[in-house]
Amino acid sequence: ESYERGEHRHFMIKEIREQPAAVARALTGRLDTRFHTAHLGGLNLDPREARAVRRVKIIGCGSAYYAGQIGAQLIEELTRIPADAEPASEFRYRNPVVSPDTLYVAVSQSGETYDTLTAVQELQRKGGRVLGLVNVVGSAIARQCDGGIYLHAGPEQSVASTKAYTSMTVAFALLALYLGRIRDLSPDAGRRIANGLKALPGQIERILAQEDRIKEVAGALAEYRSAFFVGRVRGYPVAREGAQKLKEISYIHAEAYPGSELKHGPLALICPERPTVAIVPDDELLAKNLTTLGEIRARHGRILAVAHTAPGPALADDVILVPKNEPELDPILLSVPLQLLAYHAALALGHDIDKPRNLAKSVTVE
Ligand code: G6P
Repeated sequence: ESYERGEHRHFMIKEIREQPAAVARALTGRLDTRFHTAHLGGLNLDPREARAVRRVKIIGCGSAYYAGQIGAQLIEELTRIPADAEPASEFRYRNPVVSPDTLYVAVSQSGETYDTLTAVQELQRKGGRVLGLVNVVGSAIARQCDGGIYLHAGPEQSVASTKAYTSMTVAFALLALYLGRIRDLSPDAGRRIANGLKALPGQIERILAQEDRIKEVAGALAEYRSAFFVGRVRGYPVAREGAQKLKEISYIHAEAYPGSELKHGPLALICPERPTVAIVPDDELLAKNLTTLGEIRARHGRILAVAHTAPGPALADDVILVPKNEPELDPILLSVPLQLLAYHAALALGHDIDKPRNLAKSVTVE
């Protein structure tokens, strides 16, 4: 084990640091610089079939589900096809309507998650067409699906998913680009997204270079028993995955909610004992997010902003700055510092990071 981890203390940090290479691999050979689209050889979906898609439904569990939420937003934004994500386990128990003009996408690192696999089988029994976004080649879900995209993230050992999660979001961006460019996404918009994708590995390097600074704020976060994560629209699944990571390995209670929901409940719990990690991209919702920070500060809640530009000391106690990409792709980058935050909080608390209590890397039973 120690050989495979090399100089890294845990698989999790090794895999976090492997992300620039993992993302570069996910993109290799898949960007078409002439038509500003994506080449996805394994989709098994010809352009005519792809143009007939009226809805996209994404299913997965845990971090794969949160990556699916980012994917749904990317697809809806770039293709204008309504898209949403749902936990695979919930989906298969509620006897969902399965329709022939919906494209179903199952997301899984291992390709063995029982709930996701059985949801795929149920979909296919009812005539649904299912694509797989899967990391492990030849796994049960990869074999079961009608086509798909391999993530090529490389082996992931840590129970807490990092590089596979990031590669999932990149694969969704490629799928959205492909579907968008055979519908009404313009060549210019396609070029903008393709260039944004190409910039990701270098930008992830720049986030990783801030590890010492993130370690410092993680040490401060580790002093608390409970934390909130808040984000709006594109930032909301980022907040959910950030809370998930913190829970999984540091055992600090963490809850994510959309910024707009603050006044509908969570505000009752804002106090100096419960810090908030706020996702604050420099997008069209910046002003609204800053208002949320003000509301939290007015209740004396501490704030760590994960942002493109510092909100200023009046609104945030700490800031982690993240390089800006295209707005649709920003969630991919905003997630990365939250992995380091969870890792270093768990390290400060002395937990068994690669094997968190009660959790398994892959849940192959019901
Ligand atoms: C388990 C792991 C999670 C993971 C989920 C889905 O619950 O603890 O980290 O996100 O399974 O796994 P998959 O292999 O389907 O992506």
